[in-house]
Amino acid sequence: MAQKPLRDVYGRSFQYLRLSLTDACNFQCVYCLPNGYQKNHNSNSLLNPDEIVNLITAFASLGVWKIRLTGGEPTLRRDLFGIVEKMNSVPGVRKITLTTNGYRLKHQARSLSDAGLSGINVSVDSLDSKRFEEITGRGGLKEVLEGIDVALKVGFREVKLNAVLLKGMNDSEFGQYLEYARSNPVTVRFIELMRTGHNEKLFNTHHHSTESLRQFLLERGWEIKAPEAAGGPAVELVHPMYRGKIGFISPYGRGFCESCNRLRVSAQGKLRLCLFGDGEVSLRRLLQSQQDQDELKELICTSLQIKPMGHRLHENIYGMTESLSSIGG
Ligand code: 5AD
Ligand code: SF4
Repeated sequence: MAQKPLRDVYGRSFQYLRLSLTDACNFQCVYCLPNGYQKNHNSNSLLNPDEIVNLITAFASLGVWKIRLTGGEPTLRRDLFGIVEKMNSVPGVRKITLTTNGYRLKHQARSLSDAGLSGINVSVDSLDSKRFEEITGRGGLKEVLEGIDVALKVGFREVKLNAVLLKGMNDSEFGQYLEYARSNPVTVRFIELMRTGHNEKLFNTHHHSTESLRQFLLERGWEIKAPEAAGGPAVELVHPMYRGKIGFISPYGRGFCESCNRLRVSAQGKLRLCLFGDGEVSLRRLLQSQQDQDELKELICTSLQIKPMGHRLHENIYGMTESLSSIGG
């Protein structure tokens, strides 16, 4: 019998899990880890592959079928390929995707595809090498773009470029991104900069709403695409002359939380109910043995009942997230 989707008290259903595999990252994006990743007491306590399988098994039997692996930078884990393979054999899991900064994608794309990954999101905050370096604290735009080409070549059907929109830094590149989407079968998505505990100053200077860009496209023949299953709050636009699509993720826009379909688990096994809230529930003690599956499912279902209706970013309340590197956006 098909599993009924997990639902919260507001009627939202959850078939999509974002699992962070590590807090560590080798980039230093200005809005996320401007001083680089600092090791902390959590660094040595990442979920191991067996704990991950137990976690995914419980979520999948509750109807979750799409899983995105995030970080920090998930490709820093040497056991990533094995984790993807193991997750793929969990009944009910239909789609596994990965968010990466792409710095080694060129070398890893084929193995990731062989392991059973079906989609990749790559952060590309600028198409200009110098600016890319300014934003990420690390060079390598050329390698990242080559990695995207390899990902397309080895057969990934879902490749997305994520650019965090930054006023005065990359907003002038909108035209270049459009050109990229004209010739490449990828989705270029603009993410509105989100306020976290650590980025107040940058946020105040560089936050840029996506609304004007969306309007610009609508006036030029682009059309809003019907949302995909478990697609979440992103809005995507298509145009007959473009091989690629353009997407917007606008956490400050209307309707964002109503369409929230995602749950998050940290690299240490804590269920995070809202990216910008304080609610978290540790699942780890129930990940040690398959015998705890029933209790684990029960805990997930009851925790979901305290998922808040929405974030309170407009009131300047952004919750416990100091930087998205700890939970992967
Ligand atoms: N606001 C918006 N997006 C962010 N990301 C990281 N920090 C922020 C932030 N403060 C994005 C990254 C990447 C994804 C993992 O999350 O650029 O695309
Ligand atoms: Fe690393 Fe992603 Fe944060 Fe950039 S945004 S520092 S790539 S975790």
